[in-house]
Amino acid sequence: MGVVTFLSAKGSPGVTTTALLAAALWPRPALLLEADPAGGDVAARVSAPGGGLPDTSRGLLPLLSAARRGLDTAAVLDQAQPVAGGSRVVLGLTGPEQASAAGRGWTALAAAVGGFCGGSAPGASDVLVDAGRVGAAPVHLDLLRTSDLVVLLVRADAAAVLHARDRLRLLGTALRRPDGPAPRTGVVVVGGPGRSARDEACTLDVLRAAGTRVQDLGRLPHDPAGAGVFAGAPVARPERTALVRAGRTLVARLAADLVSDLPTGRSAA
Ligand SMILES: Nc1ncnc2c1ncn2[C@@H]1O[C@H](COP(=O)(O)OP(=O)(O)OP(=O)(O)O)[C@@H](O)[C@H]1O
Ligand SMILES: [Mg+2]
Repeated sequence: MGVVTFLSAKGSPGVTTTALLAAALWPRPALLLEADPAGGDVAARVSAPGGGLPDTSRGLLPLLSAARRGLDTAAVLDQAQPVAGGSRVVLGLTGPEQASAAGRGWTALAAAVGGFCGGSAPGASDVLVDAGRVGAAPVHLDLLRTSDLVVLLVRADAAAVLHARDRLRLLGTALRRPDGPAPRTGVVVVGGPGRSARDEACTLDVLRAAGTRVQDLGRLPHDPAGAGVFAGAPVARPERTALVRAGRTLVARLAADLVSDLPTGRSAA
């Protein structure tokens, strides 16, 4: 079991959509932890299993509020809830004020999430983290460092690629752990309107030419209909949308990657 963190540089290339997509298709038990310091969107995008609203009294805020007493995997699972479609989610914060107020709570959360690695925790799960847009001095840096795999989403357009390139450079240093190597980092290129496969391939070339060590984890298409599935829109035959079909390939790769190449000191369940 392990931790995959989805994040972006400047722009909104679909981090939450991709995290929801991954949670829906993940081949093993998984928990989606919505940990975007800018605030969460998942509560507005998912329903309770029988329909209706999810329970917004549970989620990341009570977890971070209890952090002074220490957190473990059971505390994280206590704040998770099943949602329609079969995923389990820990709903995010309402906004950046809550994220700043949590202070050292983020470090306690990172330690608890690290407890899911190795598969010995009760209710063992892979943890899929929506870390939102990551800028300078992220409040949740410890959580990012706890990840086995960090997935940067980038749109295939010039401005987004330049921002992603700078962020990858800085993350290369910031993610280093005091006790070991940094998490592995990869890129998923998300298509944009009018963008070709050539633009997408070019994105990776630009990132690599800049000397950033980056694993090519795959592509997701620009597909408003498919994205609607993860925005609460009624979509007929969601499994047939281009986004969900591409998502299956991506998720199979991420899930396999997680167990095949865990960093030293961690073992696959
Ligand atoms: N692959 C995609 N194709 C088409 N539209 C998409 C795709 N992914 C996301 N979107 C749409 O883009 C918008 C932003 O998506 P999302 O909220 O997932 O991005 P984000 O990176 O999490 O943004 P934020 O920074 O606001 O948290 C939404 O309207 C979503 O439906
Ligand atoms: Mg988001």
